[in-house]
Parts: sequence; C-alpha cells; structure tokens
Amino acid sequence: MHCYRDLVNYLSCGMILAGLWHLVHHRKTQTSYGRHMRLSSPAKTVPARLAWFLQEMPALLFPLLLMLTSHTPSSMGKYLLLGTFCIHYFQRTFVYSLMTRGSPYPLGVMVAAGLFCSVNGFLQGHYLLHCAQFDEEWSAGYRYKTGLLLFYIGMAINVHSDYILHSLRKPGEVVYKIPKGGLFEHVSGANYLGEIVEWFGYAVATWSLPALSFAVFSLCFIGPRACHHHRFYQEKFKDYPKLRKALIPFFF
Ligand SMILES: NC(=O)c1ccc[n+]([C@@H]2O[C@H](COP(=O)([O-])OP(=O)(O)OC[C@H]3O[C@@H](n4cnc5c(N)ncnc54)[C@H](OP(=O)(O)O)[C@@H]3O)[C@@H](O)[C@H]2O)c1
Repeated sequence: MHCYRDLVNYLSCGMILAGLWHLVHHRKTQTSYGRHMRLSSPAKTVPARLAWFLQEMPALLFPLLLMLTSHTPSSMGKYLLLGTFCIHYFQRTFVYSLMTRGSPYPLGVMVAAGLFCSVNGFLQGHYLLHCAQFDEEWSAGYRYKTGLLLFYIGMAINVHSDYILHSLRKPGEVVYKIPKGGLFEHVSGANYLGEIVEWFGYAVATWSLPALSFAVFSLCFIGPRACHHHRFYQEKFKDYPKLRKALIPFFF
C-alpha cells in the first residue's frame, strides 16, 4: 500500500480538533460513563467487560492486519514501535477488560470509542508502515530511546493504577472508595497520568504528527476527567487526603 499522506494529515488534525472540542464542551460535564453517567438520559448499556473488549479490539486488529498485509520493506525500528502500540492495546483488550469491575457501559459510548479506536489503529499503523521514513540510525537515537522509556514508565503507572482501582471492589459491588497506594498517594487520576505519559512518550519515540495527535487527544479527553474525579472524591469523602492533587503530583 502506498502512503495516503493527505488522509494521514486530515485524520491527525481531526483528532487534535476533536480533543480540543471535547476540552471546550466538557468543562462542566464529562462523557457519560462510569461515575459521570447521566441518569437523566437512560441509555442502553452493555456489561463493562464486553464493552471494553469490543471497543479496544480494533486498535489492536488494524495495526496487526496492516503488518500482515504490508509488502513494503520496513525496518526493525518501525516494527518495534508498532509492536509497542499493540502491546498497550493487547493489555487493554485482553487483560483490562477481564479485570474490570466497572458499572454497565452505555452502548453509544462503546460504539463511539470503537470507531475512534478503529481510526486511530489504522492511522498509527498506516503511518508507521507506509509513510514514516526512519533512517537506520533512528532506533539508536536518543529520541527513540527516551520516548520508549517514557512510554513503558507511563504504561507501568497506568496498569498498576488500574489494578489498584479494580481491587477496590468486590465482585458485583458498585461503590466508590478512596484509592490508596502507588501514584494515587499523590494524584486522584494516577491511571490517567500514566496513560498521558505513555502517549507523549510514544510521540517522542516516533516523532510523528499522528502519534502527537493521539497524545494531545488523550490529554484533552482524560485530563479534565481527572479533575472531575478529583472533585467527586473531595465532595464525597470528608477525609479525602488534602495534599492529593488531580493529575500532576504536587502541582495540579
Ligand atoms: N487514551 C484515551 O483517550 C483514554 C480515554 C478513556 C480511557 N482511557 C483509559 O482507559 C482506562 C479506564 O478509563 P476510565 O475512564 O474508565 O477510568 P476510571 O474512571 O478511573 O475507572 C477505571 C475503573 O475503576 C473503577 N473505579 C474508578 N475509581 C474507583 C473507586 N474510587 N472505587 C471503586 N472503583 C473505581 C471504575 O468503575 P466505574 O466504571 O463503575 O466508575 C472502572 O471500572 C484508563 O486506564 C484510562 O487511562 C484512555
């Protein structure tokens, strides 16, 4: 397949605009799932495990399909980068979805997230395999190494924090408790902080517009959500740790 450069640029810019749009339009309310589900608008729901499995799967399948069908010679560095993207979505699709004890998930949000994951999976895979031009020294360079290091540190924080959240509930329970341990000692949105670090690390490693767009989108989508979670905890728990911040330790 040849490189559809215009499509890559349109999709990347569209993703940044979608993130900014979300930032502006969701200052007061958050996307309606989990604790921010609006009860005034009854929606069809899907069990959380099924929803996360189905919505995240396309972001794994598209890059894998592109890798299998690509006839363009690609460097090991490109495969490592795309493999890194796939590791995240393998974890989300097969591990996160099995572990979650989340409340039922709105069907509309699941469909929208699934479409987003499809577009993003295609965009990142197509760009890396068919458009990116990394020279042989790229994977020995400091950007590549620093970016990947950031990615894996972020992923470790994200996975560990999500594990802490899952462990707060007994099977069948739908209550909110104060998360403790790991980066939750410093911020209410520890899992979101990890995810944001991951995608900015990935953007540094690939040094590409599509990866930067996804990092910006993630920041705009889950950054404000961390603030809403923080406010929720402060209102719900009188003994909520006073020094804990929303997203950035000691700062914000
Ligand atoms: N890259 C992106 O743009 C993007 C966008 C969205 C999500 N994500 C990632 O997807 C993952 C899940 O996102 P999310 O928005 O669902 O995260 P979340 O609101 O923190 O919830 C994660 C899970 O833990 C449960 N939970 C959260 N706080 C709890 C508490 N205090 N007590 C008991 N259970 C609690 C939630 O249950 P309930 O569902 O019942 O609240 C849910 O099952 C995160 O790792 C996030 O980074 C990424």
